Amino acid sequence: MHSRRQASLEVTALFALCLLSVFYFARWKSSQARYPFPPGPKKLPIVENLFDIPSKGQIWLDYSEMSRRYGSDIIHLSALGNSIVVLNTAKAVSDLLEKRSLIYSSRPYSTMIGELMGWKNTLFFLPYGEAWKSQRKIFHQAIPPGDMARFHSKLLKGTRNLLRVIARTDDVLNDFQSWVSVFILDVVYGIQEEDAGDFLLLGSEAIESLGVAGTPGAFYVEQIPLLKYVPDWFPGADFKRKANKWNDIRERITEGTFQATKEQELATATPSIVSVALQQIDASDDVLQREGDIKSASMAAYAGASDTTVVALANLIAALLLDPDVQAIAHRELDKVLGLGKLPDFSDEPSLPYITAIIMESFRHQPLAPLAFPHLVTQDDVYEGYHIPKGSYIIGNTWSIFHNEDEFPDPRRFNPSRFIDRFGKIDPNIRDPTFVFGFGRRICPGKHLALASLFIATASILACYKIEPELDEHGELAEPKVQRDPAPSLINKPLPFKCRFVPRSKEIDAFL
Ligand code: HEM
Repeated sequence: MHSRRQASLEVTALFALCLLSVFYFARWKSSQARYPFPPGPKKLPIVENLFDIPSKGQIWLDYSEMSRRYGSDIIHLSALGNSIVVLNTAKAVSDLLEKRSLIYSSRPYSTMIGELMGWKNTLFFLPYGEAWKSQRKIFHQAIPPGDMARFHSKLLKGTRNLLRVIARTDDVLNDFQSWVSVFILDVVYGIQEEDAGDFLLLGSEAIESLGVAGTPGAFYVEQIPLLKYVPDWFPGADFKRKANKWNDIRERITEGTFQATKEQELATATPSIVSVALQQIDASDDVLQREGDIKSASMAAYAGASDTTVVALANLIAALLLDPDVQAIAHRELDKVLGLGKLPDFSDEPSLPYITAIIMESFRHQPLAPLAFPHLVTQDDVYEGYHIPKGSYIIGNTWSIFHNEDEFPDPRRFNPSRFIDRFGKIDPNIRDPTFVFGFGRRICPGKHLALASLFIATASILACYKIEPELDEHGELAEPKVQRDPAPSLINKPLPFKCRFVPRSKEIDAFL
């Protein structure tokens, strides 16, 4: 019985796939303008590039390789009605996603995450338009790029706590995860760790569900939206049962955190994204609508900050573990500016250019989201003589940009000094790798908060500790090992790795 139903599901899916392919193929043919598509792998009848779209391992490397193979900055693929354009140089990214941002700032529709899991009204997934602008405004008012000082005390508190735990446990990624979850809950909602209840757990389940569903090729319904009509009980409809469960988790954390913040006395609440946004509501506003926007924007902040900041710090610490020479230069800078055994503050940042260079180099060396998040173009366009069809996914490949040997010699080497000029300052002539925070109007609204958190964590950890490999059975330093996670993902992260944080002086005991 089961296998007959399964077979009928497969036949339905195949039928839907064929219909879709024929429909889009016809549409694509008729929309082919006077200009050719950008270069890319040869398109086969019906399936087009279905088997060329990278879906395994580090897919940004495949797109970089395609750019080299076809000798073009800009690559085109299409399949199942989707047209994909990959931009592999800073010029192409800037020309389209920045200079023509009016038509290059929307998002692809997501059936699994957006619709079935209920994230479609959060900033990430909103198409370019009024709802998106209204949520961006909430971010702008609550975390204005020029005023991170309002969050400094929260970041310092969280980082001091991180300094204490990392020396005592042997699961560094888990420690970073706790550090981020606690300070993000405080920054976004003003909720303290001791009042967090099950929010931390629900939050990590929600983020995990996004990671699973966002894995390229994880759920066919993302490519074949008609599958969403399959009833939940149908054999093979596991994706729908998972989506329902994940939607429920999302709703519980979105509502729970929002109500908890509302219940705080606004006058006495510590400033958070939600408390600032609630204070901006005035009598002329549609309160329900505004509260809906605040809930969605705050959930976007929580989700946007969590995994990204953890992986950014993990990439950086992994690079330092493998490079004691870089650590030694950083230690010298810290000791000269702070004196041994003193913790840094945000006011020390301008005097610590090498720490800034370490952060920049770690973004360049292992860009965290090398393909950022796809944009969607809302009109047909022509670029460099190529036709870019309306509705294409536009992907900026920052791996290609920051591993271009002409601009960054020996790109695989972790070398923060490439960002330092002859006066010992950050060299303004080297391309800024914080480009990895995305492009144009969709640039990450948490960029300055993320940079502030990474600065204070990196400077504080290096002020206190040497990062060393584990000891082997003879008590000697083992060979440090860091491997990249080969699982398909949009996030470029290391596999869990082991290291030790060895105190650099007795004075730091006072802080730990
Ligand atoms: C190292 C840390 C981070 C990195 C590397 C990062 C990177 C990115 C990237 C690549 C995008 C897509 C940009 C585009 O579409 O062009 C993005 C979007 C976004 N990020 Fe971040 N992010 C980080 C931290 C944060 C933090 C701390 C927050 C919140 C406080 C945040 C909130 C968001 C939101 C809400 C969006 C969606 C913006 C939109 O669609 O308009 N991110 N981020």
